[in-house]
Order: sequence, then structure tokens, then C-alpha cells
Amino acid sequence: MTSTVLQMKNIVKSYRDGEAERTVLDRVNLEVKAGEFAAIVGPSGCGKSTLLNIAGMMLSPDSGEISLCGEKVSALPKKKWTAIRKEKIGFIFQNHQLLPYLRAGEQLSVLMGTDEKTVQELFQELSIAHVIRQYPSALSGGERQRVAIARAFASDAALILADEPTASLDSERGHHVVEMIRMEAHSRNRAAVMVTHDERVLDLADCIYRMEDGKLTKI
Ligand SMILES: Nc1ncnc2c1ncn2[C@@H]1O[C@H](COP(=O)(O)OP(=O)(O)OP(=O)(O)O)[C@@H](O)[C@H]1O
Ligand SMILES: [Mg+2]
Repeated sequence: MTSTVLQMKNIVKSYRDGEAERTVLDRVNLEVKAGEFAAIVGPSGCGKSTLLNIAGMMLSPDSGEISLCGEKVSALPKKKWTAIRKEKIGFIFQNHQLLPYLRAGEQLSVLMGTDEKTVQELFQELSIAHVIRQYPSALSGGERQRVAIARAFASDAALILADEPTASLDSERGHHVVEMIRMEAHSRNRAAVMVTHDERVLDLADCIYRMEDGKLTKI
């Protein structure tokens, strides 16, 4: 049986732009099941990160419903959001947020409680074993991105959200990282949603959505 991990219903989000109000998400629907890897494409500024941040409970929609693993989380009080986010969501941010005062390996071991062996295996798989004891400021953009990816994989989250995970990587590494996201979804039965501009990795996704003019359509 396949279960729905993420369900977004009729999501509306507008931003104020001086006097005007701009509707970035106009009744968007999205459903992603366990074991499914979905990709979202669309022009810059169309609302992809906004959508992902709403799915990741980092931002509230103006209206609409969000359910995670069958639980209607949008109805829960905000103070419960952090705990749910921690338990259910592994987020790979567009700007790969790492804590500046923790070494790369500690971003997993201290923040996620990941054991040493798993940290080493993940870093090896992502070809960043050499930076395990370095602070984020000493890493290249692509290395930081891969530490952020390792951190999302280290969680047991049912849902992995990745915002442009290949942006700082060369095409070979980018392809490998997306293959790993696909494998996380397929072999560990997680749901994964990736926003990307990178046409070369789209063949790895199970389904592709296009975001444009506030609407999300399956292609
Ligand atoms: N906090 C905010 N206040 C006002 N406008 C915002 C805010 N956040 C985003 N926007 C606007 O909403 C639109 C969508 O932004 P978003 O970051 O979701 O786009 P995107 O599709 O992820 O773009 P990119 O591909 O460049 O990352 C943009 O026009 C942006 O300027
Ligand atoms: Mg974005």
C-alpha cells in the first residue's frame, strides 16, 4: 500500500509589494506518496521556494491545508510546528544553512544525534570525507551543499525537501546527489520533493511539475 506523505490542498500565498499584492501561489495542490520522488521546475521568482517553505512548515500559507503522513498539520498551533518539522522533514535549503560554530560532521552528530559511523559513511558517499572536521566557513559552496544533503539524509524524516540541491555542484556531482535523493526515496520509502533549474537531472524524478503564474501543473 502506498501512503500519502505530503498533501497540499488549495494553497494560496500572496506577498505585499508596496501598494499592490501579488499572488505567488494561487490554489496550488500537490500530493507526494511514500517512495515517490517529485521534481518542480519553473522560472525564477515563480514561487518554487515559497511552495517548498510552506510544505516544510517554515512559512504559513494565507489559506489552504497541509497534511503530513495523514495529519492535518496546518490546523495545529504554530508552537507545535518546530517539533513536527524536526521529526518529519529533512530540508535541504537553497542557501544550504549550516551552523557556523559546528564542524561539518557535527552538523549531523550534534544536531541530529547521528552516530560517528553513519556520519563517515554519508560523507564518504558524498565525497566530502576530507571536510568532516572543518567549519562551514572553510568549505566551498558545493561542499557546504553536500553537508546539508548529508544532514537531510541522516534524519529519519518521512519527507525530504530539496531546494536547488545541485546549484553549487558540477554536473557529475549534481547528478550523483540527485541519484542519492532518488535512492533515499525509493529504498527507504521516503517522499522527496526537489526544486530545480537543472534539466539534466529531471530524468531521475518519478514525476515533474511546472510552476508558473501561481499554478502548479504536472507535466
Ligand atoms: N518575504 C517576501 N516578501 C515579499 N516578497 C517575497 C518574499 N519572499 C518571496 N517573495 C517574492 O515572491 C516571488 C517568489 O519567490 P520564490 O523565492 O518563491 O521564487 P523561486 O521560484 O524560488 O525563485 P528562484 O528560482 O529564483 O529561487 C518572488 O517574486 C519574490 O520576490
Ligand atoms: Mg527559489
